[in-house]
Amino acid sequence: MCGIIGYVGKKQAAPLLVEGLRKLEYRGYDSAGISVLDHHQLQTFKKKGRIQDGLAKLVEAGHPHGNSGIGHTRWATHGPPSDENSHPHLDQSGRISVVHNGVIENYTQLKARFPQDTFKSSTDTEALAHLIGFHYEKLSTKPGLTPVARLTEAVTHALKEVVGTYGLAVLCSEVPGVIIAARRGSPLILGLATEEIFLASDASALVGHTRDVVYLSDYDLAVVRADGFELSNLGTGATDYQVSRIEYSAEAAEKGGYAHYMLKEIFEQPETIENAFRGRLDLEEATSKLGGLNMTPAELRAVDEIVIAACGTSWHAGLAGEYLFEELAQIPVEVEYASEFRYRNQPLTKNTLVLVITQSGETADTLAALREAKRRGHKVLALCNVVGSTIAREADGGVYLRAGPEISVASTKAFTSQVTVLALLATLFGRMRMLPPKKGVEILHGLQVLPDQVRAVLGLADQIKAIAKKYTHCRDFYFLGRQIGFPVALEGALKLKEISYIHAEGYSAAELKHGPIALIDEESPSVAIIPNDSMHDRLLANLEMVKARKGPIIAIATAGDTAIAGVANDVIYLPQTPDLLMPILAIIPLQLLAYYIAVERGCDVDKPRNLAKSVTVS
Ligand code: M6R
Repeated sequence: MCGIIGYVGKKQAAPLLVEGLRKLEYRGYDSAGISVLDHHQLQTFKKKGRIQDGLAKLVEAGHPHGNSGIGHTRWATHGPPSDENSHPHLDQSGRISVVHNGVIENYTQLKARFPQDTFKSSTDTEALAHLIGFHYEKLSTKPGLTPVARLTEAVTHALKEVVGTYGLAVLCSEVPGVIIAARRGSPLILGLATEEIFLASDASALVGHTRDVVYLSDYDLAVVRADGFELSNLGTGATDYQVSRIEYSAEAAEKGGYAHYMLKEIFEQPETIENAFRGRLDLEEATSKLGGLNMTPAELRAVDEIVIAACGTSWHAGLAGEYLFEELAQIPVEVEYASEFRYRNQPLTKNTLVLVITQSGETADTLAALREAKRRGHKVLALCNVVGSTIAREADGGVYLRAGPEISVASTKAFTSQVTVLALLATLFGRMRMLPPKKGVEILHGLQVLPDQVRAVLGLADQIKAIAKKYTHCRDFYFLGRQIGFPVALEGALKLKEISYIHAEGYSAAELKHGPIALIDEESPSVAIIPNDSMHDRLLANLEMVKARKGPIIAIATAGDTAIAGVANDVIYLPQTPDLLMPILAIIPLQLLAYYIAVERGCDVDKPRNLAKSVTVS
């Protein structure tokens, strides 16, 4: 989705802004732009399309000078991708430049207050720029205002009239060396360095320059200069803030020799899974130690139902969580799309715990579900990867995934970390109830050996690549699983469709005969997750039906399974693991399969069309 970068300091702003925007490319965008302030002159460059082909060339040719500036990558919401609709947007006087993430919901009413021929775009943001310009002009007669106070007041007045969400950066030709930053619902971070301050919607854009950051909260407004900033909250009037340290290095957010971020992140999983459980296993008590839950043992024991709310891959992890909680803790679980939960009038018991799962911590639907659950008086825990993200801060407690930056739009390592943490949480809940120590230890031991087992599965990359080549031309894929293998099937299908644009669907294998089997033919492969568990023989019978209709079968099976070889065309063997941890191993070949098929088809793996890394609009 849209990205923001800003710089105030002593260096030339333009190259830093373009570099920052490149770091934000992974979020998904269709156009980009910057404004740089050279003394009292605003220079604005914006262009539809990729930064390297459009904006970067414009900036190089224009050679703008100036030590402060703002930039933006746009993911179209109001108005199609075009040069005109790209940010920054100027006010009616041309003195004020604005970049904005989020949605101004009342923009039509705001726009109607100004002459329509002064608008150059069809965006909601331009209406906001005009509103700021209107207040700025109005304040010109107010005595005793310094230029910076006038701009700050203008932005404040404008934001009080806005309905919607924003991460905002404002530059004004009459106030050199200052950026006004504000947020409500869209993340914004200040990066503090010596005699310079960066501003970004995402830490990966500034971690190469500094790791000391301030995460703005909703309604914060910051007046940012090279030598410092003042912050005030438009809601509470509070002026305090906390400086946090970003835990990962700039290198962690680079490709590190891999062809794509996705491949790098797939191969990082032995370490990221280990990070997810490191220091959290209590073998003596056959349970897990999770420090950040902020719930007393009595509160944890009182939980009688869990609602999991999430989107996309995180929702699939939640489905796996359902099996884990039910099996290990005997707690009823409902897994909801976060986007639906917030609009449902779902009856919840007094002691229902709401668990939101999110890699980014900024997904708008998940955030809205969290707020709705809190409004209804429920405790909300978050399983989240991005430290300091909005969801991490607004939840009552939770567990960090510790997967490091996930740059690829297609989520991979976050999924395996999410399931790992869900296994820890379910074990904890189980051991507070009836789970025997032996069963708890089995899960903990299973987790301990996972990193090496994942390494072994990654060692099958060449075999998986060869299988991918065989099926690259196919137009439809079906992914089949049963029980906890079902969410794996859904996630495998999502991976393939989002990066290769092949139609792919995940089904419970048993459901096949109720309709989808009509689609099976020689050109439609079925990928079956068939571990050596209690469902094995039933799933094998389901696959016989596929085979009878000449459908090719790629099986993800457990080492030693000889029966599957007689049914499937290709078999990828996994090491033995406890049934409930199987998704963590079984998803790896599916991630690789999707990756190699997408590469073979010449797709832009890390930047799939129409997609954004973090979906911050609902
Ligand atoms: O950051 P989140 O985990 O909240 O994101 C949720 C989904 O938007 C995300 O998983 C999406 O489905 C990915 N593209 C899947 O690969």
